[in-house]
Amino acid sequence: MDLLVVGAGLFGLTVAQRCASELGLRVTVIDSRPHPGGNAWSTRDPETGIEVHRYGSHLFHTSNDRVWTYVNRFTGFTDYRHRVYTVHRGEVFPMPINLGTINQFFRSAYGPDQARALIAAQAADEAQATGGTPDESLESRAVSLIGRPLYEAFIRGYTAKQWQTDPAHLPASVISRLPVRYNYDNRYFGDTHQGLPVDGYGAWIERMIDHPSIDLRLDTDFFADGPFGRAATRGRVPIVYTGPIDRYFDHAAGRLGWRTLDFETTIEPVGDFQGCSVMNYADADVPYTRIHEFRHLHPERQHSPDATVVAREYSRFATDSDEPYYPVNSPADRDRLLRYRALATAEPQVKFGGRLGTYRYLDMHMAIASAFTLVDTELVPKFYPGRRMI
Ligand code: FDA
Repeated sequence: MDLLVVGAGLFGLTVAQRCASELGLRVTVIDSRPHPGGNAWSTRDPETGIEVHRYGSHLFHTSNDRVWTYVNRFTGFTDYRHRVYTVHRGEVFPMPINLGTINQFFRSAYGPDQARALIAAQAADEAQATGGTPDESLESRAVSLIGRPLYEAFIRGYTAKQWQTDPAHLPASVISRLPVRYNYDNRYFGDTHQGLPVDGYGAWIERMIDHPSIDLRLDTDFFADGPFGRAATRGRVPIVYTGPIDRYFDHAAGRLGWRTLDFETTIEPVGDFQGCSVMNYADADVPYTRIHEFRHLHPERQHSPDATVVAREYSRFATDSDEPYYPVNSPADRDRLLRYRALATAEPQVKFGGRLGTYRYLDMHMAIASAFTLVDTELVPKFYPGRRMI
């Protein structure tokens, strides 16, 4: 073994694939889960044949041509374009907030300029009410961007459910911007390249690791005893570690905060449950944040007319035994992260990467691009300087 990769998510697999195929290295990849692909994994549900995204809907989108060319080596993509809707007080609105949402909500027929003026006036009303010095809460930031009526309808309850905290008590940093589109475009992503892998993420990922120099070991935890565990490998072989950075250092600087999700997955005896792949629920009195209906991710496939797989998504803070999904990123977390980064620089044989290893939310294309950078700028110069890319 020339390189050990801990974690078979898209970051770890991209590193492994490139090191095996372009550098000729023998790479072992371990993952504690029974499948590769990390959170992006999808397979066909055995009962209905519907492609189910086990960790929530994963939409591939990128404007990075190098990433797009790379992933197309392993899979074709459908022309799926993601569109999301939201239920508020028994009515369905298009998301993200656009001219359709505004006109439906205000029972109006505004053009773009009128709608822009209305939202600006509502945001200004709020600034006047608070004396022009809004506090630094998420609520005050959101209201200053989109006005109170839209905030109360579409942001407040949804955000409170995501964070189990009233947005008046959340820091403004949780949202950087709240896009409002003054046209009727409700495509969720604006990237140049979008789609879903034609035969699912599982098939894509299996082709990615189908290489004679990649040895994949599933159900293998880095912190357990054994030939690929930390005790046996640390200092003996270069390691790319994509698990949680605080776990690597035995939580020496404290635990980093994460939010997790619970999915309540059911098979409903109908051909179409909600008419779209993701329906958000904006109101606080509905306990889940959204419902995924996976058949709509592949409208090009033939599906059963009387069974559909749906998953209700619930959000909460993660405990030790939960899957970490989204970094909480509180000031205390940022402090701890700095201490872990300092510890990481003292581990020259280990490179930390991926969303868990860097404590950063990464979309799939960002994980792949960041793996490219790690291989090109760190692994090759440091560990394999004599190797020429094949
Ligand atoms: P990832 O978490 O995928 O992989 C890390 C792997 O390390 C896991 O398989 C884990 O089991 C393993 N591991 C951890 N500790 C270990 C240990 N001790 N020993 C062995 N293995 C260990 N992106 C996007 O582009 N579009 C989208 O629509 C979505 N949707 C989405 C929904 C939800 C709910 C989440 C949480 C995330 C998304 N994403 C997304 C993001 C995407 O899932 C993810 O961030 C990237 O695939 C990142 O890949 P990584 O390899 O960094 O992490």
